[in-house]
Amino acid sequence: MTDQDSTREAVRQRYADAALQVLRSTGGTRAACCGGDCAAPGAAADASQPRAADRADGSCCCDPITGNLYSPDELAALPESAVAASLGCGNPTALADLRPGETVLDLGSGGGIDVLLSARRVGPSGRAYGLDMTDEMLELARKNAATAGVSNVEFLKGEIEHIPLPDSSVDVIISNCVINLSTDKEKVLREAFRVLKPGGRFAVSDVVVDGPVPEEIRRRVELWVGCIAGALDRADYRDLLTRAGFVDVAIEPTRHYALADAGDAGLDTWLASQDPVERERLNRAFMSAFVRARKPRD
Ligand SMILES: C[S@@+](CC[C@H](N)C(=O)[O-])C[C@H]1O[C@@H](n2cnc3c(N)ncnc32)[C@H](O)[C@@H]1O
Repeated sequence: MTDQDSTREAVRQRYADAALQVLRSTGGTRAACCGGDCAAPGAAADASQPRAADRADGSCCCDPITGNLYSPDELAALPESAVAASLGCGNPTALADLRPGETVLDLGSGGGIDVLLSARRVGPSGRAYGLDMTDEMLELARKNAATAGVSNVEFLKGEIEHIPLPDSSVDVIISNCVINLSTDKEKVLREAFRVLKPGGRFAVSDVVVDGPVPEEIRRRVELWVGCIAGALDRADYRDLLTRAGFVDVAIEPTRHYALADAGDAGLDTWLASQDPVERERLNRAFMSAFVRARKPRD
């Protein structure tokens, strides 16, 4: 098994466990949330565990990354188990421009929350696809779509590095905190470009790092925010999108993760040893961002 294979397997296992937790719980409430076994904000990172996040009513219980991303109106119209399985770090459908009749593809659709929200926005004449590699997440997403009673959605099994859709078949690509999990981000962006129609839009929420961070510190923070494979540097993200052929690239921070919030004594000590300007930069270096770009028309 290569390093890439074992990282992908760790990601798959982690999200299979997260899906099973929701599938097995009653009422769609995530089992390990807000109870005794839920890590408090800043508890030491454990890469083997999915991040505990929202209560089924959508209010943030204990996670500064996945909590409070959706409006009460959005949440009210969703099945409880779709909300309970929300593991994103942004709200791409709120930021993306989705129009009736369009085809949307969600890379790493998880329990399907953004696919269901997209389906409503594109209406019955449009279509929303979710793509995920984890069987348990696909089972949960299909169950959520059935509960929501939507017919213009389809969940596909596959890897975002090999999108199982034809060239130029999608109007908008969304994704929520998934590209940072890929072991081949360049391939993902090239595949996204391939399946988009000319003029198609890329509108993705993702974890991004701004500027250099020492490797050991980077790994500690990435474990905290759940980036098993490592987040892209903001400048590298822009570069990879441009190299894939995209234009009008923009990367806008939506939420900063203060290192101090990780509750990691080692990080705190290290941060305190930095000079004040560098400390301020590093404390804001990790963020969720909305990444947008466009495939040229010709
Ligand atoms: C952090 S969760 C996000 C799920 C969903 N987007 C949300 O906002 O709740 C990551 C999801 O991406 C899927 N995933 C991770 N890497 C993938 C890959 N390389 N190909 C396909 N799916 C992937 C996982 O199975 C999981 O369901």
